[in-house]
Amino acid sequence: MIVEYTDRKLSARYPTDLGAWQALKAHYRDSMRAKSLEALFSRDKERAGRFTLTAGDLTLDYSKNHVNATTRKLLVRLAREAQVPAAIEAMFAGERINVTESRSVLHVALRAKMSDKVALEVDGVPEVWATLNNIEDFVERVQSKRIRGHTGKRFTDIVNIGIGGSDLGPVMAARALRPYWHEKMRFHSVSNIDGTQLADLTRELSAESTLFVVCSKTFTTIETMTNANAAREWVRDHLGYAAIQDHFVAASTNHEAMDAFGIRPDYRFGFWDWVGGRYSLWSAVGLSLALVVGMETFRRLLNGGRVMDLHFRNAPLDANMPVLLALIAIWYNNFFGAESQAILPYDNRLDRFPAYLQQLQMESNGKRVRMDGKPVKCDTGMVIWGEAGNNAQHSFYQLLHQGTRLIPIDFLAPVRSAGASQEQQNLALAQCLAQSEALMDGFDEEGLEAYRVHEGNNPSSTILFPELTPEALGQLIALYEHKVFVEGVMWGIDSFDQWGVELGKKLATNLIEPVAQGKGYRGRNPSTTSLLSYIRKLR
Ligand code: F6P
Repeated sequence: MIVEYTDRKLSARYPTDLGAWQALKAHYRDSMRAKSLEALFSRDKERAGRFTLTAGDLTLDYSKNHVNATTRKLLVRLAREAQVPAAIEAMFAGERINVTESRSVLHVALRAKMSDKVALEVDGVPEVWATLNNIEDFVERVQSKRIRGHTGKRFTDIVNIGIGGSDLGPVMAARALRPYWHEKMRFHSVSNIDGTQLADLTRELSAESTLFVVCSKTFTTIETMTNANAAREWVRDHLGYAAIQDHFVAASTNHEAMDAFGIRPDYRFGFWDWVGGRYSLWSAVGLSLALVVGMETFRRLLNGGRVMDLHFRNAPLDANMPVLLALIAIWYNNFFGAESQAILPYDNRLDRFPAYLQQLQMESNGKRVRMDGKPVKCDTGMVIWGEAGNNAQHSFYQLLHQGTRLIPIDFLAPVRSAGASQEQQNLALAQCLAQSEALMDGFDEEGLEAYRVHEGNNPSSTILFPELTPEALGQLIALYEHKVFVEGVMWGIDSFDQWGVELGKKLATNLIEPVAQGKGYRGRNPSTTSLLSYIRKLR
């Protein structure tokens, strides 16, 4: 029987009331606030090795952080006092840790083997493997041309229509796994509501060889439904009404809505309410990705996620990569007062990874109320931002090197890249290492003008992996998913709801008519009233 998560009161106490929190405060004040990274290294010659950890294909060097052995010990104590191990088990056991929506959180079940016995008693979990087989069957039939468009042409262009988790996951992973694309297929995506993406895309595509994948957990999201309806009109205009059912497939938990849209039963792929939008890449939401990279690659991605799950579940807290990343983030956020964190991948194929992590981390942990309904007493989720390495160097690194803010960084870099020469790869790696070194060591010398001085002492972690394989990508994604969860447990918040996005959606619905008609605004916001009148004038 599944125990109620709230009854266990795992995060009942405020983190700020825990003994380890108080000890960390004193440790920060007395030892770490004024200690430079350079001093930490000069005191411990073995530091780089002592603060490096491997899990699966990922090697994390966190030695360039304001952390020493005592900090690590206290942070791990904090995790223990905040009941992180019990919370991890609660997630894998299928407890309803998404408290405000009373749902289990089981994206881990999507990449588990049946023998892992992850929450098999939760409704839907035993269906995971059969659903995966259905997806596999569909993907293979499309790739081998047994499923074709209405006029008999093979599908060469797969268009994912979705937004948020129903877009960022497939898009980020499709870009990351570019070398794995089927040679005859291309991946595209449409997410924004303004219509320009679809308009620009359809100019390049032939309806006969285009397959749309409508991805929406709810199948009610206005952006996605607007785009799906426009795409449906485009297919109808080019190929006739009867073609629609051959050019649209869907991934959703809302079977009635898929029905109403005209998705034929064998082109529908379901998932379950225990898969959160931003955690859904591993489910049928990954269909567009799987169609382009093939099922073998998709299963390798799932397997990468599983490798990280096993590590997260079994490794001791002080050698647990997601736990350590979360603790370091909390250390900067709640003790040093850092407000943001930068994610800087040195592989252009990971250029959407920062955007993906923005949703994952900020939608999950941007919360001011705890699971028990009480306000938090400390800051929660940091602002996450970033960009692919070298592009970022020529854009915002100035602020990282000489600005006034503390911005902890995660550098991510593969050691080899498919299609890149060793020389190119060496250049990229040299850039990555040089930046973290410059940020830490800084530069100054006698008589140097102040504007040339790099003060250094800026913290960063570096995550290296052999190559951006599907397995490594799966591990990276799962690493951050679990990091976010651990942070949420520590703060006592629900990392799996997103009530904060609802008000804007509601107000937008009320504004559709006033924007269209230029009248009928019933709201009371004076600035909105004024902007509506400008819109009227500018039309
Ligand atoms: O904007 C909030 C949100 O609910 C996200 O959590 C989600 O990923 C996105 O909208 C899309 O939702 P859906 O998959 O239901 O269309």
